[in-house]
Amino acid sequence: MNDTMTRDEVFGGLDGRVVLVTGAASGIGAASARLFRAMGATVVGADLTPGDGILPADVSDPEQVAELVEIVVARHGRLDVVHGNAGVNVPGRPHSITDDDYRTVMGVCCDANFYLVRSAVPHMRRDGGVFVFTSSMCGVAATPRSPVYNMAKHALVGLARSVAVDYGAQGIRAVALVTGPTHTGMVDELWPPGPLRDSLIASTAVGRLGTPEEIARAAVFAALPGSSFLTGACLTVDGGATAGWNEMARSMLTLKAAT
Ligand SMILES: NC(=O)c1ccc[n+]([C@@H]2O[C@H](COP(=O)([O-])OP(=O)(O)OC[C@H]3O[C@@H](n4cnc5c(N)ncnc54)[C@H](O)[C@@H]3O)[C@@H](O)[C@H]2O)c1
Repeated sequence: MNDTMTRDEVFGGLDGRVVLVTGAASGIGAASARLFRAMGATVVGADLTPGDGILPADVSDPEQVAELVEIVVARHGRLDVVHGNAGVNVPGRPHSITDDDYRTVMGVCCDANFYLVRSAVPHMRRDGGVFVFTSSMCGVAATPRSPVYNMAKHALVGLARSVAVDYGAQGIRAVALVTGPTHTGMVDELWPPGPLRDSLIASTAVGRLGTPEEIARAAVFAALPGSSFLTGACLTVDGGATAGWNEMARSMLTLKAAT
């Protein structure tokens, strides 16, 4: 480090890096693919719904994940960053969750990311690499009516730590994004505008939903070469939702202002 560093030298760039983003057809994954591209990386997306630059894959299937990784490496010669982002929630209380619902949520939110690690690590051994997993606030505390989602998102924190411990010496890092309520299709479906949506917004300190881009920026930050000491960690991007009792703070501050 010296006094004459350029802006690019502070964090390093992603030119020439190859990035795989799952769940890239919408929401946070689409924003991540856009932002990684804007940073100079070559991006391959994967989703149930194929599209421009998005390969079709059900990431809960280990064979499809293995094939996906092989296609990326065959086409681009390397794989530097994996953003394991695909996710789905089937709400319900524990006693009402069916075997199918359980397998769907665990398969997409949890198992898929293990398959990605298993398939991608052999290609990262020479030059290192980064895994970014879109966990959630549900990875550090439980949301009601989402038992399997909570379990799966907690597991991603464990997976990031395991990757860090097992491969740190080979320059492979892993970060779990602890993301707060973000305005995507998932939120529109599960928390439509109304009292439920209002309670979600009230859970944040900033008093609004995040944008997919605000989450994607954290994924890019985690993947930058300059984030080289960031691994096995949760990166919290939640508008302050897990920082404190925001609803209580709001009522107390309102009362205080009134007196
Ligand atoms: N939106 C939020 O408030 C929020 C909060 C915390 C965490 N997250 C997480 O962010 C991630 C992205 O979700 P989003 O909010 O952008 O929702 P989204 O529904 O817009 O995106 C999810 C994407 O995953 C894809 N997907 C689902 N099952 C798949 C499968 N089997 N194989 C491949 N792709 C599959 C979907 O087709 C979709 O494009 C998810 O892991 C979600 O759990 C979202």
